[in-house]
Amino acid sequence: MLSQVVQDALNDQINTEFYSSYNYLAMSAYCERVNFRGCANWLRAQSQEEYMHGMKLYNFLVARNGRVVLRDIKAPLADYVCLPQVFEQALDQELDVSRRIDALYELAFREKAFAALVELQWFIAEQVEEERTARDIVAKFALVKDDPSAMLDLDRELGTRIAAGPAEAPAEGPAG
Ligand code: FEO
Repeated sequence: MLSQVVQDALNDQINTEFYSSYNYLAMSAYCERVNFRGCANWLRAQSQEEYMHGMKLYNFLVARNGRVVLRDIKAPLADYVCLPQVFEQALDQELDVSRRIDALYELAFREKAFAALVELQWFIAEQVEEERTARDIVAKFALVKDDPSAMLDLDRELGTRIAAGPAEAPAEGPAG
């Protein structure tokens, strides 16, 4: 059985992942409004991935006979100064999530929550990828600057992203 402190921290992380999902969706809505549909598509797909990250931890807590406690999700920003700012915020968010995952891993280690450590290793690897992707997009926007045709090419490129599949439900049977 997971200790209460680990369960609380996992519930915090579920909230963070669902907030990330909500925030990416708000970013996507902004991009729709300013007619950059490719950026909107990329951010919408990312929103779906974040939802799956939340559900992965949700499923883990359920499988370990833990208590899922869903909390308020704070409202994300609705407006941005410009398109590059959206992706700078996305990168900041990923850096913040990485710090939180590291802290959660450290806590699980202290609490000898070995199954949680294995689960969290997936998130540590995922964050390496998420940070790299967000950093690449920020760098591309820096290169594009105010060149409209390069901006449209980048928007088209981001429009090709397809969302990943759904999170798996926890396995049937008793969990110890
Ligand atoms: Fe689930 Fe992008 O952190």
